[in-house]
Amino acid sequence: MPLLELYNLRKDFGGLRAVDDISLTVPQGAIIGLIGPNGSGKSTLIDLIAGSADLTAGKVIFAGEDISDLPADAVFHKGIARGYQEPALYFKMTVLDNLLLPVKGQRGEQPWYAPRHSAWQREERKHAEAAMEVLRQVQLLPHYDTLASDLSGGQMKLLEIARALMGKPKLLLLDEPTAGVAPKLAYDIFQQIARLRDDHGITLLIVEHRLEILFDFVDYVYVMHLGALLAQGSAAEIGAHATVREVYFGD
Ligand SMILES: Nc1ncnc2c1ncn2[C@@H]1O[C@H](COP(=O)(O)OP(=O)(O)OP(=O)(O)O)[C@@H](O)[C@H]1O
Ligand SMILES: [Mg+2]
Repeated sequence: MPLLELYNLRKDFGGLRAVDDISLTVPQGAIIGLIGPNGSGKSTLIDLIAGSADLTAGKVIFAGEDISDLPADAVFHKGIARGYQEPALYFKMTVLDNLLLPVKGQRGEQPWYAPRHSAWQREERKHAEAAMEVLRQVQLLPHYDTLASDLSGGQMKLLEIARALMGKPKLLLLDEPTAGVAPKLAYDIFQQIARLRDDHGITLLIVEHRLEILFDFVDYVYVMHLGALLAQGSAAEIGAHATVREVYFGD
């Protein structure tokens, strides 16, 4: 059963059609790769799904519900979380505080410390326990008190994923989760991502340029080129696809 269905998505930036008539499905429990050359529209497609950009045309159906017109916070509450191509962490705060700060409805909307201790203590402890559990899932628990700025590049990427997990998503959208990370660590990150699916049932749509790693983990791959869908298939099929090789690898 598809968890996410996209129908004829389009996004125009003035005269530029960044996303051109994309239709695809993401089955429940799958790890799906989204690849394509630079500027082919992958991040824009993620923005459209996450509600961070308005659709020019098309439909986004999540768990059978039309979420096409929902803003980003409403999409997040429906169960879709995302990571960004450029992680935006609170670098001067600890790993744990990075997870606690964005917890639902608390980002500057309410005073962080309510005047009465008893009014917030239990809720705060619950959030802290949830955050520690998420840190355990991505193996950052030993670093809970480390400043985000002191983490390695790979650990920063994992912290970004951990932050997305705080919303208990059904679907996680990741935009280049291993960008700028050493190859060995990049493989570790993908192993952790696969565990989110295997142990926690989270469905994943992953944009990634490192195909040699991505292809080891995905159930299916979509290829974008100039905003449109160029090909789709298993990792083996896409790796051997002549047109994909031509536009993507310059073969
Ligand atoms: N906010 C924007 N305003 C105008 N044009 C944009 C905007 N965002 C993206 N674009 C353009 O849309 C096209 C697709 O960009 P997008 O970032 O989605 O590509 P991408 O596949 O994620 O590329 P990369 O692999 O380099 O991250 C590009 O031509 C880009 O310049
Ligand atoms: Mg991008």
